[in-house]
Amino acid sequence: MQINGSVALVSGANRGIGRSFVEALLARGAAKVYAGARQPERLADLVDAGKGRLVPLKLDITQPADIAAAAGRCRDVTLLVNNAGINLQAGLIAAHDLAAARAEMETNYFGPLAMCRAFAPILQGNGGGAVINMLSILARVNLPMYGSLSASKAAALSLTQGVRAELATHGTLVVAVMPGAVDTEMERNFPPPKLAPAEAARAALDAVEQGAEEVYPGDMASGMSQGLAADAKAVEKDLAKYLPA
Ligand SMILES: NC(=O)c1ccc[n+]([C@@H]2O[C@H](COP(=O)([O-])OP(=O)(O)OC[C@H]3O[C@@H](n4cnc5c(N)ncnc54)[C@H](OP(=O)(O)O)[C@@H]3O)[C@@H](O)[C@H]2O)c1
Repeated sequence: MQINGSVALVSGANRGIGRSFVEALLARGAAKVYAGARQPERLADLVDAGKGRLVPLKLDITQPADIAAAAGRCRDVTLLVNNAGINLQAGLIAAHDLAAARAEMETNYFGPLAMCRAFAPILQGNGGGAVINMLSILARVNLPMYGSLSASKAAALSLTQGVRAELATHGTLVVAVMPGAVDTEMERNFPPPKLAPAEAARAALDAVEQGAEEVYPGDMASGMSQGLAADAKAVEKDLAKYLPA
């Protein structure tokens, strides 16, 4: 699938990696980009930059009514980018209660699942297309300081595999993107080096064009992926040193 001429929908488009997705899609010739945001007024400068190709969309992926409205309106989508996510930086035992773990599952697992379900028939009707799920290298191994975030991304990796299998006969490519630390508001307190958000978006769009099902943008993620392939238990033990504050 080529980005040039595609019609994309990006969740969490107002900032961070989502904003980089929108900019990269426009630069690579997407015919239209639906930019989803909880507060669409925060997309004003992107609307200007889009020169008629950028369509702002109110979209909270935890709200079924927003998803239904988006699926009703965006019938021409060929590329769904499930980018929106949260990291409440909570441990599994250290957290006061289950609130963070539940919120992360709502946004990072149930949200993308609901979006995949809503847009699968639309993608099929438009020839198959592709889904990008923004996961994390922490989908592959738990980082205890972000224990519940890691679990939600592991769930999202499993959903990605299952959705890929169910949509294979539709001709829909389903891509798992698993970066390490990226330089956005989400990880403002994480020490450098961090991947530029534009690099994460570029690697994801390259994967779509190459038909790749998994991509590990940046040195941190590719190094950890290689480490997991060589000795997964050693990587788990290494990350076990990073406990919740
Ligand atoms: N930064 C990293 O180190 C890193 C690493 C691996 C993976 N990721 C993943 O990459 C994706 C983007 O993260 P980022 O670094 O760009 O984070 P970010 O700068 O914090 O941006 C998160 C985006 O998601 C949106 N969002 C949150 N909850 C939402 C909801 N319920 N409905 C719709 N939009 C919602 C936010 O909207 P508001 O502005 O309204 O809050 C914002 O646009 C996430 O899935 C994240 O888990 C990030």
